[in-house]
Amino acid sequence: MGAKDQLEAVAAEVVVCKDCKLHLSRKNAVPGEGPARAELMFIGEGPGFHENEQGKPFVGAAGRFLEELLEGIGMSREEVFIGNVVKCRPPGNRDPEQQEIEACAKYLERQIDAIDPKVIITLGRFSMARYFPDAKISRIHGQPAEIDGRLIVPMFHPAAALHQPSLREVVEADFAKLPALIAGEASVQEAEDAPPSNPEQLSLF
Ligand code: URA
Ligand code: SF4
Repeated sequence: MGAKDQLEAVAAEVVVCKDCKLHLSRKNAVPGEGPARAELMFIGEGPGFHENEQGKPFVGAAGRFLEELLEGIGMSREEVFIGNVVKCRPPGNRDPEQQEIEACAKYLERQIDAIDPKVIITLGRFSMARYFPDAKISRIHGQPAEIDGRLIVPMFHPAAALHQPSLREVVEADFAKLPALIAGEASVQEAEDAPPSNPEQLSLF
C-alpha cells in the first residue's frame, strides 16, 4: 500500500474509533491532513472546539497563527502534514490523559511511518513527551535531535504564544531555523548551541 492509501486507511479507522472514552464526547474525530509526501510534519496535542466541529486540525486561532508562522518561512499549510497526539477532542479542552494518548498512539505511529517526514515538529509538551519524556520544553524548544533517522524539533504550542505574547518571538525564532533543517544545511550540534530562553516566561504548555 502506498503512503496515501495508508493515510486514508488510518483516517477511515480514526473516524469510527472507540478505543478510548474521548469517542463519547466527540462530534468529529480529526485524523490530521496533509500530503503523503510531506517533508515536514507537525504534531499538536488534540482537537479543540473548532477542530471537533469541522473534523480538521488547527482550524481555530492556533491554526491561524500556525499558518502565519509557516508563511513567515515561505511555506503554506498545504505543504505540510498536520496531526495530533489524540484525534478526538478532550472535553472542555482538558489535557489528554495518559490512557487516551496510549490508545491513540497507534494511529500517529502509522501516519509517521507512512509519511516518513524529514523533520517532525512537536507542538506543546504532550507531543514533545513522545520523544523526550522527561524534558522541559522551556529548555529544549527549537533544538533538533536526531531520533530514528529523522530530526525532531520540539516547539511551544502556538496556542501558548497566543496566551503569552512574550512567547511569540521565541516561536518565530524557532520556526526560522526550519528551512535550513529541511535543506539539511544546519547541523544538529550547531542548533544545540542556541541559548535557552528565559524559563520564567514559560509556564504554559
Ligand atoms: N490545538 C491542537 O493541539 N491541535 C489542533 O488540532 C488544534 C489546536
Ligand atoms: Fe480512538 Fe484516538 Fe479518538 Fe480515542 S482519541 S477514540 S483512541 S481516535
